[in-house]
Amino acid sequence: MFSASSERIRRDIEAMSAFTASPGQGMTRFSFSGEDRKTRDYIKDRMKEAGLTLFEDAAGSLFGRRAGSRADAPAIMIGSHFDSVKNGGCFDGPAGVVMGLEIARVLHENGIETEFPLEFAALVEEEGARFGGGLHGSRAMTGKVSREQLDSFKDRDGISVADAMKSFGLDPERIAEAVRPKGSLKAFIELHIEQGPILEAEGIEIGIVKTIVGITQQEVEILGRPDHAGTTPMDMRANALLAASEAALFLDGAAKEAGEGTVGTVGRMEVFPGGANIVPGRVFFTVDIRSVNNGKLEGVVSSLGLFLKEMEKKYGVTASMKEKIKVAPVEMSREIFDLFSTEAEKRGYSTKTMQSGAGHDAMIMAAVTDVGLIFVPSKGGRSHCPEEWTDYEQIRKGVDVILGTVLSLSGAKV
Ligand code: GLV
Ligand code: MN
Ligand code: MN
Repeated sequence: MFSASSERIRRDIEAMSAFTASPGQGMTRFSFSGEDRKTRDYIKDRMKEAGLTLFEDAAGSLFGRRAGSRADAPAIMIGSHFDSVKNGGCFDGPAGVVMGLEIARVLHENGIETEFPLEFAALVEEEGARFGGGLHGSRAMTGKVSREQLDSFKDRDGISVADAMKSFGLDPERIAEAVRPKGSLKAFIELHIEQGPILEAEGIEIGIVKTIVGITQQEVEILGRPDHAGTTPMDMRANALLAASEAALFLDGAAKEAGEGTVGTVGRMEVFPGGANIVPGRVFFTVDIRSVNNGKLEGVVSSLGLFLKEMEKKYGVTASMKEKIKVAPVEMSREIFDLFSTEAEKRGYSTKTMQSGAGHDAMIMAAVTDVGLIFVPSKGGRSHCPEEWTDYEQIRKGVDVILGTVLSLSGAKV
């Protein structure tokens, strides 16, 4: 049985971990930045060594292609993203990219021929940490990124996705060329760290994902009036922060009330102009809502919208909510799920059927092809923080399960 090397997995993850904008404070690798460039150059070198043919699509994602014996056959795409959140960890994303690199190496060094072509993917801007929304690479491949969106999504410095792409040498006018037509892919397979505590707590080696929760992210702006904090009486203010604070509390309650594991988070809030002696005149905040039940997801968003209307009256402010992304819950392919189970069993690895509370490119790719997603344990369940950790040997086991799956799905001659 072919097997991956945990030593090579370690080398790749450690090398990519050096490319952070926040050394000593975790991984900050925003898309189309200097850290993105260095990481992609590293991945390109590894892809070339594994005999892959490289290309970048119009959205900026990187691919290494390996021809199959049937030239016209749809490709099996394997990988994950390589951007990170702010002050995040070294495994969220890269573990899946390195899974692809390692499988490419095993096929290359063993001279394995496959019937279906393979594409090893390193996708951009999955986290949305720079521009909001996220899942940019996979949404572009599935035709869900409009040219207009590239202008309207902006980072904290007001730089649009389009401008960031141009400075990086990409042409935003060509975004539609990233679309993968239905039928051009046979499958999309991703490995990811669990980012939660279940596998470690239960001593299980491999999580096989059945469902990914639905997600929406919204941006809310509340406009009040900046006034002198000493001279403006309490009943003559239009305090945007009070309306925003009540909205954050309302979201927490609405998610709990919705149940079925529905969650709602205000993860970023900015107060303007932001002075100790100024009544807050403007507040910006993000809203992230997730649920396996699409009705509950929709219900929480619309009740928040209604609540903001109440806040307008109560505080004399105006509130607007802009949708950045909304994706319904998705089921993974049954066929790939079963192949994962068979491969894990062959190798004697314990498995558990799981639901993903995190978003992944696989959920977007499900619109155009069969998808499969494997989880490997996260130490202490920690993720989106510098402490994020998965043992290399545990990643290796996940890679082996996908390697076996890819060999059978691609019609490999072994
Ligand atoms: C990505 O990590 C997400 O779930 O937002
Ligand atoms: Mn991720
Ligand atoms: Mn993440």
